[in-house]
Amino acid sequence: MTVCEYRPGLEGIPAAQSSISFVDGQKGILEYRGIRIEELAEKSTFLETAYLLIWGVLPTGAELDEFADEIRYHRRIKYRIEDMMKCFPEKGHPMDALQTSAAALGLYYARRALDNPEYIRQAVVRLLAKIPTMVAAFQLIRKGNHPIQPNDSLDYAANFLYMLTEKRPTDLAAKVFDVCLTLHAEHTMNASTFSAMVTASTLTDPYGVIASAVGTLAGPLHGGANEEVLLMLEEIGSVANVRPYVEKCIANKQKVMGFGHRVYKVKDPRSTILQNLAEQLFAELGSDEYYDIALELEQAMVDIYGEKGIYPNVDFYSGLVYRKLGIPNDLFTPIFAISRVAGWLAHWKEQLNANRIFRPTQIYTGQHEVPYTPIEQRS
Ligand code: CMC
Repeated sequence: MTVCEYRPGLEGIPAAQSSISFVDGQKGILEYRGIRIEELAEKSTFLETAYLLIWGVLPTGAELDEFADEIRYHRRIKYRIEDMMKCFPEKGHPMDALQTSAAALGLYYARRALDNPEYIRQAVVRLLAKIPTMVAAFQLIRKGNHPIQPNDSLDYAANFLYMLTEKRPTDLAAKVFDVCLTLHAEHTMNASTFSAMVTASTLTDPYGVIASAVGTLAGPLHGGANEEVLLMLEEIGSVANVRPYVEKCIANKQKVMGFGHRVYKVKDPRSTILQNLAEQLFAELGSDEYYDIALELEQAMVDIYGEKGIYPNVDFYSGLVYRKLGIPNDLFTPIFAISRVAGWLAHWKEQLNANRIFRPTQIYTGQHEVPYTPIEQRS
């Protein structure tokens, strides 16, 4: 066996062979199953894209209808899961609520053999169907309200906005939100996907796999960055404060949220699409006070860090879109999770086809043969 050098963060080390998605970080290309993200954002829907990611091909019309109907049928959650959520502290972060609730699903759906295609399909359907309902339910519960039941007349994206805001969204809002879900659905070997795959490799149940991934997505270096971007724009407060803010970050060796990527060395293609979506929403619903700050921040970062390949990532403009849709800051990352469930499930399914438990090695840097010191002799 070839022994590789240690690379912090496993940078550049392949952890899987996968045909699900592809990124060219120099050219700014992202493909799902070979199809460019720009084309999917324009022509597909989130559910169709989820099907493509998980089953590897675009569904026929009949297959897509059947898949969408199954998901519609399974959107409701057990009243006991709602009751459990009512016991969560209302100031707790919605990502913690989601991770706990996703794991709790495993209590209700008996484990079956992982080579049973029917079990795989049911798990895929249940997770895609119920995760949005759980995110919306926690939002209403923490406000002191009863969760709203899913509305069967609404499609996936519109139904989520309806359950969250208690209002039917406009067609533009539902369409924009659906595109956001498509954009975030999958992104090769990122931290949460790796986490899902490590958990999957032990052959545990799919609810545990998704709970693992949700916990990993929550951090500010990963999915949590979209929430941090809005907090940062609020802190900057005005266009005039942008460059002093960046200078302060440089002086304090602090990262500017929503910029930089392990793989992309140019502007993330999803960021460009999200910026366009934000502009469409501003044209219909009025501009956002933070958009000018964001534009100036992008320019300042390009001036200072462009040569180093630090450009806006997917999290930079998504928060401005969600804010315009009336979504609170701390739900941005749970919404990322709603979408990324598709990618995690695709990798789970792919992993099961050729599973081997993850068991990397380490380079031991400690001592050997250390004598045990009795407690009374320790200083
Ligand atoms: N602001 C300022 N400097 C940066 C930034 C940034 N946002 N990102 C990277 N750098 C610098 C970093 O200081 C380092 O400089 P030097 O070589 O002088 O030490 C160099 O670029 C390489 O950075 P790194 O942290 O070693 O790169 P990484 O590949 O380990 O980290 C990253 C990638 C995304 C964690 C990082 O760019 C970052 O922390 N960005 C801010 C948080 C963020 O926006 N996260 C969302 C990532 S995209 C969506 C997702 O994964 O969920």
